[in-house]
Order: sequence, then C-alpha cells, then structure tokens
Amino acid sequence: MIPIKTERQIAAMRESCAIAASVLQAVKSLVRPGISTQDLEEAARATMERLGARSACYGYQVGSRRYPAHTCISVNEEVVHGIPSFRRILRDGDIVAIDIVVTANGFVGDNAVSVPVGTISADTQRLLRVTEEALRLGVAKAQVGNRIGDISNAVQTYVESHGFSVVRDMVGHGVGLSMHEEPQIPNFGRKGSGDRIRPGMTLAIEPMVNLGGHKTKTLSDGWTVVTADGSPSAHFEHTVLTTERGPEILTIPRPILGPVHAWSAPATPSAPGNIS
Ligand code: MF3
Ligand code: CO
Repeated sequence: MIPIKTERQIAAMRESCAIAASVLQAVKSLVRPGISTQDLEEAARATMERLGARSACYGYQVGSRRYPAHTCISVNEEVVHGIPSFRRILRDGDIVAIDIVVTANGFVGDNAVSVPVGTISADTQRLLRVTEEALRLGVAKAQVGNRIGDISNAVQTYVESHGFSVVRDMVGHGVGLSMHEEPQIPNFGRKGSGDRIRPGMTLAIEPMVNLGGHKTKTLSDGWTVVTADGSPSAHFEHTVLTTERGPEILTIPRPILGPVHAWSAPATPSAPGNIS
C-alpha cells in the first residue's frame, strides 16, 4: 500500500523537506577545488543539528551494515552512496553528487543535486543538464490520475534520446514516515504501468544517469555504487507531493538558513532566510 499523507503529515513533511533543501544548498555552496568530501559532511552535520534535524542516512541499516556518515557524496564515476572521506579531495573538472536525507519531527525529506567542481568538460556539463531536466520531466508526470510508469518512462525516454543511460539497479521511492516507502519509482519503464498516482503521495523522484552504460557495481566498502565502465554519473532528486492541482516540489531550493562553515574552508557569506 502506498501511504497517503494526511494534512498534518503533509505539514510536517513540508518542514523536513525545507530543512533537507537548505542543508543541501549549504553544502552545495561550499563545493570548490581543494575541499574534501569530509568537509562537506561536517558542514552538513552541523547544519542539520542547527536546524533541529537528524540525518536519516547515519546508521541506516541494510543487512548487517550500517551507513557510517550523515551524507552521501559521490564523485565522478560514483553513482550514489559515496562515503565522505578526508582523503577524497575535490579537483577541478570533477562532478560531485550531494544526497541529503533528514528526519525532522518524525518525517523524512530527501533531495540530491550534482554540481561541477571548477571547470568541467562539455560532455559532463551535458550529463548534468540532461539529468536535471530528466528530473523536471519526471516530476511533471507526477499528476493525479497518471501512473508511476509515466514518470519512469519520461525520465528514460529523455535520457536515452541524449545518448546517456539510466541506472537500473537503484530506484526512486515513496518517502515520509520512513526513508523508503512504497512505491518504487524506477527511472525506466512503460507508460501506463505501475500504481495509479493519487493525491497526498510523497515521492522521491531521483534519476541516476550514466554517461556510458547503465551497469553498476558496489565497492568493497559495501556502500559506494560506481558505474561498471568507469564513466561519470549524475544524480538529481526531489521530494514531491502529489495534489489535485499538480505536483508540488517540497524540496525547492531556498535561501541558506544561517551561517555555513566548512571544517577547513573559509566561511561563505549566506543570505538570511526562514523556513516557510
Ligand atoms: N537518497 C538515498 C536513497 O534514497 C539515500 C541513501 S542513505 C544511505 O537511497 F544510508 F542508504 F546511504
Ligand atoms: Co532517495
């Protein structure tokens, strides 16, 4: 059963998603050549704490493994679930996917963005543009009366028309009371397939797109998913509420809430803002 959120639950989701979005903005603002992925992790952890949220990733259990960090930071050929490290220094020409999932007041908000580090190649620029646009097109299909497969098909069709491939080993998902709820939202599939979309669903739509082939493998750390062919990969994600008036993105970027400090980077000026 796909959970349908009540008005009260939706109000709480708005808050957790607003926090997830501003943590993501804060981390994104720090990306530059020379910073380590652990610096981004530290900034995220501090910002979550300041905004009264917890990471839904930290300690997240799959089998006997627990995820060891508060963020997933995936560089270049890393698709998702990259574990931050002091040893991983971002270099000019890299791309980095930042995935932030928080719990606040018992509800989960999930979002991700991929950004360039310094100057990147034309191919990688195109990969980022196409993946972000695929997310936009997928979200646009999250209409009451449509089916989940309409989202999947829109993402796949657009991505493949640009010669890139969609990852098949991981999928988007319902989100809210927990990080992963029904339904699964693949980034490939047939129009008109899957569950019918009804008002009050909260969906994490998240295209993962490879410049090369769709195949992936998991590194020996048990978490980091990389492309099998070593080609770069991009990831964008929003949590979306379905309504009679159409899809509403709950993780819309908003002004950074308060100061953001990277562990070893100079503080970045930030605009004051409020949680809506
Ligand atoms: N956005 C990712 C997902 O939906 C977050 C995973 S957190 C981890 O799967 F703990 F599994 F790494
Ligand atoms: Co997700």
